[in-house]
Amino acid sequence: MTSSSSIEFSHYQFEDLSLNDLYNVLKLRSMVFNHQQRLIEISDGKCIEIDDKDSNCIHIIGKLPNQQIVATARLFDKQSPLKWGRFAVDPNHQKTGFGTQLLDYLDSIIDSKPIEMNAQSYLVDWYSKFGWSISGSEFLECGIKHVRMIKNM
Ligand SMILES: CC(C)(COP(=O)(O)OP(=O)(O)OC[C@H]1O[C@@H](n2cnc3c(N)ncnc32)[C@H](O)[C@@H]1OP(=O)(O)O)[C@@H](O)C(=O)NCCC(=O)NCCS
Repeated sequence: MTSSSSIEFSHYQFEDLSLNDLYNVLKLRSMVFNHQQRLIEISDGKCIEIDDKDSNCIHIIGKLPNQQIVATARLFDKQSPLKWGRFAVDPNHQKTGFGTQLLDYLDSIIDSKPIEMNAQSYLVDWYSKFGWSISGSEFLECGIKHVRMIKNM
């Protein structure tokens, strides 16, 4: 783990992502969900990281000054409530504040619109600090406990 430094956030529609950024977003998600969290193994091969939904999303990217992408998430912006997910921070930089910065950035772009997510249950207390509330019962997704959380509704 390295110490926290500032990262610069930006967001793009899928078709406006550079090839390089797209590659590095997918690489980061694969590193976090497939390798760190072992979702392929836990879900018995049923969890597909690259799931054909990315072209419907805005992609949030957090870059270090050296341009390395260390944080990402995707936002389904053409629906109400909005929905977001695939929230991941580079394992070498987790727990140094980048996830918190991304949550603040998300707030800055959604303009207080209603939004939902399927949150991994281990993070419920943390998300609650940012105004998210539980809506419904816990369920398994990709072999991991999740709960629907909502904000601004
Ligand atoms: C969840 C995640 C995006 C948070 O990003 P981050 O940069 O690590 O977050 P921050 O450093 O800003 O804040 C850390 C908070 O995350 C939570 N957290 C992160 N990793 C955790 C872990 N392994 N166990 C429990 N809580 C954890 C803690 O609540 C912590 O808050 P605290 O320091 O106040 O206790 C990042 O840890 C990650 O990519 N995890 C793996 C993928 C994942 O779980 N994605 C979210 C799916 S809903």
